[in-house]
Amino acid sequence: MLASGRGSNFLALHRAAAQGRIPVRLVGVFSDRPAAPVLAHARDQGIPAVALSPRDYPDRLAFDRALLARVAAVQPDLIVCAGYMRIIDGTVLAPLVGRMINIHPSLLPRHRGLHTHRRALEAGDREHGASVHVVTAELDGGPVIAQAVVPVLPGDDEQRLAERVLAREHPLLVASVGALATGAVRWSDGRLWCGEAPLDAPLRLDADDRLVRP
Ligand code: GAR
Repeated sequence: MLASGRGSNFLALHRAAAQGRIPVRLVGVFSDRPAAPVLAHARDQGIPAVALSPRDYPDRLAFDRALLARVAAVQPDLIVCAGYMRIIDGTVLAPLVGRMINIHPSLLPRHRGLHTHRRALEAGDREHGASVHVVTAELDGGPVIAQAVVPVLPGDDEQRLAERVLAREHPLLVASVGALATGAVRWSDGRLWCGEAPLDAPLRLDADDRLVRP
């Protein structure tokens, strides 16, 4: 996992793996922020945690190469970005496409980038949510695996909306990683597949926290 912050998605994924709900073993957490709480959470759970500081490297490419070399050393089948807040150099990403996913707090393609909850409110969106997508060189632009939808309610502010989305991010990430781990969803020939059919539209997280075709 790559993460820069609080680590609630890490904890959700770790709990699901530890309880045997998904056939996943977390082998390392990697960060660009040595003080990120997610690192302490990982160490508390006995999972190796590594942080490198971008300021110790001459440029983005050098930092990304160094961090992803540390990731490669643990030989992950899948790299999960969960609140990793740095853009990764495209040349470093290229060989990883299909093996790296990201959770983003909006219904992509709406609201790529930052401040997604504020922008959903400003746009008057009636629905908002979160997406898990394949990471490509286009920021928040890779194929979307699955989404969780929440309503935007009268009186919502940024924080209330963020909390409602975050509560659905956790099961969304668990279900998405689980689907990739079991092979229910896979990346092959440069695209996503669900079973034997191409995944043309994102799966939806239903009320029972299962992924279903929309
Ligand atoms: C989550 O809301 C995630 O969707 C968002 O950061 C938060 C991390 O929370 N990611 C992005 O904004 C990526 N651009 P967490 O550290 O508690 O898992």
